[in-house]
Formats: sequence, C-alpha cells, structure tokens
Amino acid sequence: MTKVVVVNGPNLGRLGVRQPDVYGKQDLDTLRRLCTEWGEALGLEVEVRQSDDEAEMIRWMHQAADEKTPIVMNPAAFTHYSYGLADAAHMVIDEGLPLMEVHISNPSARDEFRKRSVISPVATGTITGMGFYGYKLALEAVAHLIAG
Ligand code: DQA
Repeated sequence: MTKVVVVNGPNLGRLGVRQPDVYGKQDLDTLRRLCTEWGEALGLEVEVRQSDDEAEMIRWMHQAADEKTPIVMNPAAFTHYSYGLADAAHMVIDEGLPLMEVHISNPSARDEFRKRSVISPVATGTITGMGFYGYKLALEAVAHLIAG
C-alpha cells in the first residue's frame, strides 16, 4: 500500500470547538478516522498529522521528499504567509510527488488576508470549501495521480 501523509497546520487540533459554524462540529480524531477509511478504500495507507509548529511541518515536507511520500496538506494559517513551508512543499513536488492542498472552508469567501495562498502556486491542486469531504477528494486525486 502506498503511504500518504495528511498534514494539518496550526489550530486544526481544535477542530470541533474552533468556529464550528466555519469548520464543522467534528474533531481531528474524526478526521483521522475518516481519512484512514477513505485511504483504505483507495488502497492508500494514510497517516494524519497536526502541528502548530511551522518548523515541524517543514521537517515533515523534507521527510516526505526523502521517503517519496505523497502529501495532502491543510496548511491552515501558514497558507497565507509561510514562504518556508511553500519552499519545502516545492521539494516534495520536485520529487515528482503529488501534494494536494485542502481547506475545509473556502478562504476566498472570507477575510481579505485569506484570499492569497503561497502554497497554491506550488501545489499539484487545491480543494476548498468542501468541509472534511475535501480530504476525501484530495486522497482520490492522489490515488489517481500515482496510478499514472
Ligand atoms: C483553513 C483556512 C485558513 O484560512 C485558516 O487559517 C485555517 C483553516 C481551512 O481549512 O479552511 O486555519 O485552512
């Protein structure tokens, strides 16, 4: 089974309690379970991670590039300003690996600062505004892309 790492950025450990009107009532453990199930159905071994630490997320991109692991990433607020994470995501892409960007909400329909993603120009593709279902779509995209 191909391994895929699903990386979630800052404050996504607070899913379920953080702005449920925007991000839904389900928590990170539920997202973890769903992604694992969706991955299994696609023949993917999914590991879901979350960090509030930019350096840790950058290290995870280096690890993915070295270990040739496709990535699904919700960069959360880092989306809008982390050139370090964008450069690290580029290293994953440079290995010929898919890197799908996911957002639970539709950032373009929200605050002005959310309209810009520094990750989107680097990512293979971006899925926004579909809630947790966006992760399923991203995993399907990864399965499609690695099947050639
Ligand atoms: C988010 C959107 C970002 O603007 C925000 O900072 C997040 C979550 C989303 O999933 O909709 O933390 O990435």
